[in-house]
Amino acid sequence: MKLGIIGGSGLYDLPGLGNVSHSNVLTAWGAPSAALTRGELQGVELVFLPRHGSNHHLPPHLINYRANIAALAEAGVDAIIATAAVGGIEHEAGTGAIVIPTQVIDYTYGREHTYSDGTQPHPQHVDFSDPYAPRLREALLAAANDAGIAVRASGVYAATQGPRLESAAEIDRLERDGCTIVGMTGMPEAALARELGIDYANISLVVNPAAGRAKGEITMADIERELKLGMGRIRSVIAALAARMGRE
Ligand code: HPA
Repeated sequence: MKLGIIGGSGLYDLPGLGNVSHSNVLTAWGAPSAALTRGELQGVELVFLPRHGSNHHLPPHLINYRANIAALAEAGVDAIIATAAVGGIEHEAGTGAIVIPTQVIDYTYGREHTYSDGTQPHPQHVDFSDPYAPRLREALLAAANDAGIAVRASGVYAATQGPRLESAAEIDRLERDGCTIVGMTGMPEAALARELGIDYANISLVVNPAAGRAKGEITMADIERELKLGMGRIRSVIAALAARMGRE
């Protein structure tokens, strides 16, 4: 079992990795966001990639999602856990909550969103009824339980284009659509992993109430504070997941 981790905002490395090596790779789709970090956690081989680059220089709409997923596929990962910082739309997805979503709605546009460009033998119409691999989600939930960390076991992730945050009316619309949380990077990442046949699941930390859900502006300072407060719990779930996989 080789596990890929895509680190979102606030997760730029994985302390505790043994036998660490770094490699710059180039895929047929271009360069991924950063060098791949390979290592071992709890006896499991792991490949880590920070989605926004190691210094967070890439905004969501400029990330080369195809290169990122292709690089992890070429590194031989069997499954990918993607972390994300998100805004909370629903009451139960309050700031500080961790959500392991079950569904996604894609509101992004203009991104390279498929490997199916007419030149490759990739399947064109992959099934995406369950965008997050159910078995991998179950493993994440069990790992959170092992680590004693409360998580919300379902939810709908709204993937917006960014980089600006949403208007309050846009969030009202997402709520009417049934969305629980909102972030800017969940798509096309999940669909690209499905096209390459790699199990993919998301674990999201709510770092702010979405637009119109609290008084006042949403500030980067508030978001960064919540990232610092919450990322330790995400790291603990990942370590518990590796421990589980190591035992299996
Ligand atoms: N909207 C979109 N993406 C986000 C948010 C938000 O409120 N917070 C963190 N990422």
